[in-house]
Amino acid sequence: MALPLLVDCDTGIDDAIALAYLAAHPKARVSGIVSTGGNVEVGAVHRNNLVLAELLGIDAPVARGAERPLVQEPMYADDTHGPGGLGHAVLPAPSRTGGPRSGAQLWVDLARERPGELTGLVLGPHTNLALALEIEPELPRLLRRLHIMGGAIHHRGNTGATSEWNIAVDPEAAQRVLSVFSSAPQRPVMGALEATESVRFTQRELDRFAALAESTGHPVAQILVDALRFYFEFHEADGFGWSAHVHDPLVTAHAVTGDFAGTRPLAVDVELAGTLTRGQTVGDELGRWGREPNLEVLTDVRPGEFIEHLLTALEAGLAPASAG
Ligand code: RIB
Ligand code: CA
Repeated sequence: MALPLLVDCDTGIDDAIALAYLAAHPKARVSGIVSTGGNVEVGAVHRNNLVLAELLGIDAPVARGAERPLVQEPMYADDTHGPGGLGHAVLPAPSRTGGPRSGAQLWVDLARERPGELTGLVLGPHTNLALALEIEPELPRLLRRLHIMGGAIHHRGNTGATSEWNIAVDPEAAQRVLSVFSSAPQRPVMGALEATESVRFTQRELDRFAALAESTGHPVAQILVDALRFYFEFHEADGFGWSAHVHDPLVTAHAVTGDFAGTRPLAVDVELAGTLTRGQTVGDELGRWGREPNLEVLTDVRPGEFIEHLLTALEAGLAPASAG
């Protein structure tokens, strides 16, 4: 029985790899995609999601999210993901629009349709999930579980000095999600930077993606090669060498398999007022707040095993283009 997932993402290069992995993995089924503004503006994210869903054969609704964060002024990461969100990749125009249903409404509708069965996977800012909670406060009990790529708990930020991108783009939304989901039957899983930055693509992985594109002729494989090349160029220019930190696929693979990392319970909240620390995810290791842990944070990542699993799944599951 495949695991139904709703993917809320700001596609983006690593979001695209996560979507390709879900399409390729036999135990995963994408039941819906929500386009959230983040890496690039929501219209570009939505176009990316519509095209990727079509090329990957994902037969699921793709809903456009809100135009902007709840409070924070919009910010984008064109330098990291390219002006269109997928680096150097050139995409065809989508053949569908996604329809009028909002991203927040898609969260609510899919969760209500199959109570207790849908896994929520947030790979971008929490704007649309927070808006969904305003429509349906019971969402934490309607979802099977929530998995989040976001935060930096005992780790430097990648956006502010102490903040991680998905949280920094919409801190109010993230704070609301963590607060409301603290009553969820199963604590949400958070893959923060200290976990996801242990996964680092080098030329070896870039070569395997190029070989995948060559052997299958699959358009998404070529899109990922062209996108990753931009990602490597950004990381090199940013002082990380010819490589790329790939965040979203690790959280995604853990959501599907429960493998490649451990978890530990922790009470985590989001700083909203700090002049230097707004958007920081703060972990209360000593129990100073007197709160029960509200998250399971990823620990003890096994990056080599994960990378091999990711590439093997893509090589096995991305059918050659001729397969249609
Ligand atoms: O900080 C990394 C996260 O921000 C990833 O999800 C990346 O796609 C961006 O959204
Ligand atoms: Ca993302």
